[in-house]
Amino acid sequence: MAAPRQPHRRADSTAAVHAGAPAERPHHALAPGVAQTATFTFRDTADLERYMRGEDADADREEYGRYGNPTVRELEHRVAALEGAEDAAAFASGMAAVTTTALALVKAGDHVVLFEDCYRRTRQFVRQHLARFGVEHTLVPPGDTTALAAALRPSTRLVLAETPTNPYLYCTDLEELSRVVRAHGRARTLVDSTFATPINLRPLELGVDLVVHSATKYLSGHNDVLAGVVAGAQHLISLVRDLRGVLGGVLDPHAAFLVSRGLKTLGVRVARQNEAALAVARALEGHPAIERVFYPLLESHPSHAVASRTLRGGGGVVSFIVRGGRAAASRFVDACRLATIAPSLGGVETLVEQPSLMSFFELSEEELSAIGIDPALIRLAVGVEETSDILADVLRALE
Ligand SMILES: Cc1ncc(COP(=O)(O)O)c(C=O)c1O
Repeated sequence: MAAPRQPHRRADSTAAVHAGAPAERPHHALAPGVAQTATFTFRDTADLERYMRGEDADADREEYGRYGNPTVRELEHRVAALEGAEDAAAFASGMAAVTTTALALVKAGDHVVLFEDCYRRTRQFVRQHLARFGVEHTLVPPGDTTALAAALRPSTRLVLAETPTNPYLYCTDLEELSRVVRAHGRARTLVDSTFATPINLRPLELGVDLVVHSATKYLSGHNDVLAGVVAGAQHLISLVRDLRGVLGGVLDPHAAFLVSRGLKTLGVRVARQNEAALAVARALEGHPAIERVFYPLLESHPSHAVASRTLRGGGGVVSFIVRGGRAAASRFVDACRLATIAPSLGGVETLVEQPSLMSFFELSEEELSAIGIDPALIRLAVGVEETSDILADVLRALE
C-alpha cells in the first residue's frame, strides 16, 4: 500500500503572498480595496441590535474605526498567519504596539524584566513612564537567560526581549527564555522580532507568548509608512485590542493597505537582504580598514551559536567599527554613494548611519563608552539593490 501523502507545507515566502487573504473579495478584485472610512453604518435599529448582541453573521463587521477596520483586519490576519499566531493587532507605529501591549499586561505593583539592548524607546518607556505608574523593572545583560532567571520575582508579569538587537545584533535563545519564564510562573514573554522578521524567525514556535514588530521596517519594506503589529494567543490579543480602542493608537486603513502590499514581497526581499548583508559582513571581516564586524551568522559574533541554531537568515543589518575613530567613520559614511544617511532599516533602499551621531548624539564620549557604543561604529541596513552594487559602494567608500 502506498504511504499516505504528507500534506504539503507552503514555504514562508508563498505564505507572505497569500496567507490571511479572504477567499473572495468584493467585485471579484484580486487585490484588496481600502476601506477608507472612520465609521460604519447600520440599516436599522434591529440590524444595530443584532450587531451589538454579537449575532451578526459577519464576524469581522465593524462599528467605528478606532475599534476596527476591514483593511486593518486583513493585515492582522496576514501577520497572524505568518507568525503562526491565533490573532494579531495592528497599530499606528511599532512603539504604539509595544506600549499598548505592555500597558495591557501590567498594573501598579507589578515588575517587568527587560534586556539592556532592547530598543531605546522601549527602555525609556519602561524606565521613565511605567515607573511613574508604580511598575518596577530590572534590566538584564543582552541574551543572558541566567541573569533573567535571577531577576524574576513573584510580582514579575512581563519579560521584554528583542532578537537580534540593535546595533550589535545580539541574539537571545528564545526557547531557553520561554522555559525559564514559564518555570517561574505568571509572567508573559513579549519579543520584539523586528530585525528577524517571520521569514528568519518565528518566536511563537519557540514558546514565546507575544511577538511584536515595528512594521515600519521589513514588514512594509518600502520606507513609506509607520506601523506596528503584535501577534499571539487570541485571549491576549483581545486584551491588547480592547486597550487600543481606549488609547487610540490604531493604524490608518491606507497605511494598513501599504503594509499588506509590502508583506507580499517579504519573502523575496528578506532572502535578498540576508544574502547581501552576509556578503558585506564576510567582505569586511579581515578588511584592513575595519576593526570589528558584527553579524549574527559570522563565527566571530558572540551570539553565533544561538543565531545559527535558531535563525533561518542573519537579516539585513551589518554593524562594524571603522579603524581611525569617529572622524574616519564619518568620512566612510560621507563617501557612500548608494547608501543614504537615515535612521531605520528593512526597506528597499540601503541606509547607513553612525549611531554616535544619530540615536546617541547627546551622549559624551564617556557616556558612549559606558553603554558600549563605539564612536566609530557604523550600522548598514541593506536594501534590495544588487549585492554586487552594495558591496562595491561599501568597499569604495572604505578606500
Ligand atoms: C527593534 C525596534 N522596535 C521598535 C521600534 C519602534 O518602531 P516605530 O518606529 O515603528 O515606532 C524600532 C524603531 O526603530 C525598532 O528598531
